[in-house]
Amino acid sequence: MPGGGVVAVTGTADVNRVEAPVTVRAYLIVAFAAFGGIFFGYDTGWMGGVLGMDYFIKQYTGQEYPDIKYPGLSKDSDEVKAYRKSTFVVAQWQQSLTTSILSAGTFFGAIIAGDLADFLGRRTVIIMGCGIFTIGGILETASTGLGVMVAGRLIAGFGVGFISAIVILYMSEIAPKKVRGAVVAGYQFCITIGILLANCVVYATQGRRDTGSYRIPIAVQFLWAIILAVGLALLPDSPRYFVKKGKLDKAAKALARVRGQPVDSDYIQDELAEIIANHEYEMSIVPQTSYLGSWMSCFEGKLSSPSSNARRTMLGIFMQMMQQLTGINFIFYFGTVFFQQLGTISNPFLISLVTTLVNVLSTPASFWMVEKLGRRTILIYGAACMVAFQFIVGIIGATAGKPDSDNPNATKAMIAFICLNIAAFATTWGPAAWIVIGEIFPLTIRSRGVGLSTASNWFWNCIIGVITPYLVADQPHSAKMGSHVFFMWGGLCCISFLFAYFFVPETKGLTLEQVDKMLEETTPRTSRKWKPHSTFAAEMHLAEKHIEVPVETTTAKSEAV
Ligand code: BGC
Repeated sequence: MPGGGVVAVTGTADVNRVEAPVTVRAYLIVAFAAFGGIFFGYDTGWMGGVLGMDYFIKQYTGQEYPDIKYPGLSKDSDEVKAYRKSTFVVAQWQQSLTTSILSAGTFFGAIIAGDLADFLGRRTVIIMGCGIFTIGGILETASTGLGVMVAGRLIAGFGVGFISAIVILYMSEIAPKKVRGAVVAGYQFCITIGILLANCVVYATQGRRDTGSYRIPIAVQFLWAIILAVGLALLPDSPRYFVKKGKLDKAAKALARVRGQPVDSDYIQDELAEIIANHEYEMSIVPQTSYLGSWMSCFEGKLSSPSSNARRTMLGIFMQMMQQLTGINFIFYFGTVFFQQLGTISNPFLISLVTTLVNVLSTPASFWMVEKLGRRTILIYGAACMVAFQFIVGIIGATAGKPDSDNPNATKAMIAFICLNIAAFATTWGPAAWIVIGEIFPLTIRSRGVGLSTASNWFWNCIIGVITPYLVADQPHSAKMGSHVFFMWGGLCCISFLFAYFFVPETKGLTLEQVDKMLEETTPRTSRKWKPHSTFAAEMHLAEKHIEVPVETTTAKSEAV
């Protein structure tokens, strides 16, 4: 019979008891949140295809369809090709605007969401993100011209910013330490599925000569919003959020649900006490007095100290910047045009299908790799592989595969190494960048740290979206780098390699509170060997005293203090 009661939370000094065992149902709860990745992937995936749709182009340019303008001429004739290149095409600035405005929205959305998640809760902010996204989606679907479409993209972007930042935060906070990396890698997997689904839906509707051509791919997104919002409404909020708010009763209940244990079990008590003790400890180092003060504390401390807030914030921001500077989105945003320039592949959809499929199919290997090899290790090796693969593409392009050499084998080899590069990203930097930002922040600044890091991802995503056409496109003001662009991305991956080696600590297998301790006691290079040796509860003397947490319990026994 349910009833009210008080559970005395007593901490443990045993480092093996700081996390409760988890039931299968609890694993499923945690895994559900990964679904948020679908939004991220789908929303970045559909715009490119829609911009190339005949109906959409006609709507935006007012020009006649090529087959009506040139009846009887094949689509490969010079006239039709010239018409498509110069006239029947959405203007470059409109393409840039509609594509990049999403990132502007997501950038601000992620920062604001990081702020709101501490006031309203992680779950509420994700659900709000779904609501905002739906409003944006309605405008996008209804649009018949640039203004409404841009407004819709901006608002939808806000929603995606909310979702992309806070899902990572929520998942990292509720996932058990042993599978936290794998679960967040599941989010990355959902991103890749989202990109693939967008490609497929756009392919299915691209030939239509009505508004369904672009409205269907846009409207499909409402489904993601409904599934995520309804699912999350049924799930508990993060127990760590409740601890931060001082609502310990709710924290105990939420923890009991995400671990699938009775609220009054010793396991739940021990884990909760450890979270509380860690929070008290963090608050004693950097007290948060005011709203502004709480933002300032993200930049508190010396950059040279691996555990300072400033260092952790910069680590998160640079981590996401370096993820984008691996050049992966060059391939996803611009791969089609690049491969066409190579001259041997005529079906652009086939190209994007191959690259997105390689991305989807290789990501699951990361579930195992992040937990077995560790985040730091895969980031270092992943960067090294990407350096090698991208340099090889650049070298082939500069020698056997020169544009005038007409060497299909060279083109095939370049495509093969580009696919290997995608697989290297998908198993390392793709998931690990997200995993690390969910793990490195102390509870006091976690939501803002994750928000700022996510905003950095979108900022650089936007920069790459905007500059890429000017690097390789066959246009008057382009740098016309061609395949040399891979030397640039390979060079940037060298920096990613150094960044991972010198700055990224190993966080696998630790609770978020143990990560805190590890950062205090090690440097990134020595972090791999660190083993938990004491608990915050013991250090804050919670192992000897009781914290009384009023809860509704299900057993009479547990109501006793
Ligand atoms: C990145 C995206 C990228 C995607 C590809 C994500 O981790 O943040 O920018 O498009 O991976 O799978």
